[in-house]
Amino acid sequence: MKIMVVGGGGREHAIIKKLKENPAVSEIYALPGNGGMANDATLVPIGAKDIDAIVDFAVKNGIDYAVVAPDDPLVLGAVDALQEKNIPCFGPEAKAAIIEGSKVFSKNLMKKYGIPTAAYEVFNDMDAALSYLDTAPIPTVIKADGLALGKGVIIAMTREEAKDAVRSMMEDKVFGKSGDNIVIEEFLTGPEVSVLSFTDGETVVPMISSMDHKRAGDNDTGLNTGGMGTVAPNPYYTADIAAQCMEEIFLPTIRAMKAEGRTFKGCLYFGLMLTANGPKVIEYNCRFGDPETQVVLPLLESDLLTVMQAVTGGTLSEVDVTFSDKHACCVIMASKGYPTAYEKGYEITIPAAIADNVYVAGAKLSDGKLLTDGGRVLGATAVADSLADAINASYALVGQIQFDNKYYRTDIGARAMLAQVEG
Ligand code: AMP
Ligand code: GLY
Repeated sequence: MKIMVVGGGGREHAIIKKLKENPAVSEIYALPGNGGMANDATLVPIGAKDIDAIVDFAVKNGIDYAVVAPDDPLVLGAVDALQEKNIPCFGPEAKAAIIEGSKVFSKNLMKKYGIPTAAYEVFNDMDAALSYLDTAPIPTVIKADGLALGKGVIIAMTREEAKDAVRSMMEDKVFGKSGDNIVIEEFLTGPEVSVLSFTDGETVVPMISSMDHKRAGDNDTGLNTGGMGTVAPNPYYTADIAAQCMEEIFLPTIRAMKAEGRTFKGCLYFGLMLTANGPKVIEYNCRFGDPETQVVLPLLESDLLTVMQAVTGGTLSEVDVTFSDKHACCVIMASKGYPTAYEKGYEITIPAAIADNVYVAGAKLSDGKLLTDGGRVLGATAVADSLADAINASYALVGQIQFDNKYYRTDIGARAMLAQVEG
């Protein structure tokens, strides 16, 4: 079978490595992939948002199955366009990807179907938003409606900060059209949990839970990033909470999407906060998380391609999806300065013996050398019997990978360890 994976980061590398375990897979193309994946996939220089070129490539090369991983092409309708050419795909159609593509849509969906989330107001007029903020409870959270490279959420600790955020989105248009509409919502507190799920629109199968580390610095300080590391499972996510989430959040969301004529097929990511008043949805993503995928898929015991094809075919209830009871930790190695300014072009050395544990995100090949080419350069994942062992083993991997200007957090998993102790 010839498979095509659209996207080019660590998440896509993890998906590709897992798909390769199926002996029926003869060839995997990554569009565009990155130089660090060259041993696992054939790199094709077509951008993830270039839908016409993606479809053209798939048709000309007789692709049997396509996986569209990033949010942008999903929201732009890559799956719809591939399906029109009868290429089976993993991922939601555009009308379902809107669950991530528009925060106004997802908040209104949750309100309509009674799915627990932060209280909120929607604004399309800046003056109305500013006057609402004169009396709104503080802290408050300002969200741009559309996709904003994961940066469209501002937690404002003061009224002035909140108003500045509104002006930057609605007047200065820092996120372009994504800021035409904004959501102002209640500030919630509690541990955060990421739950990715497989769904064919009828059945929803949650994957093992995970915990992201979004801030750039140790002890959750510094700027928000795309994610500096992950552990799975997330110790805050107990079996009782999982059962409650299934009843109150996962199934109601799948049914709501179907009822709206927007049946969701693919990976639906639930970003949850475990508040004193129960689990609430912080965000939905229409795709696998990055770097959650780099800890979740290594723990998947079932064959990924089989599960994905069941999602596409609407037969998910007929396949077994099992996860190991081990623990995984992924530490992201970034370029110093990320998420703002950083240098690139430094040579990366990864010992061959550990290459299977490394998911490369931002690198390119040049004259046979692998060079840093992004903010997040790679993730090193270890799987072990205990969380402590997984953390130690992933840092041991990090110690064997060299490139100048490297930066990583030294406390990935520390909070999860504390949660285990508090039990
Ligand atoms: P999002 O892009 O929606 O995942 O938001 C980024 C981060 O902002 C989340 O991971 C949370 O840490 C935080 N956040 C988003 N919404 C809220 C909220 N209503 N209350 C508190 N924190 C939030
Ligand atoms: N790690 C968060 C995300 O993928 O959105």
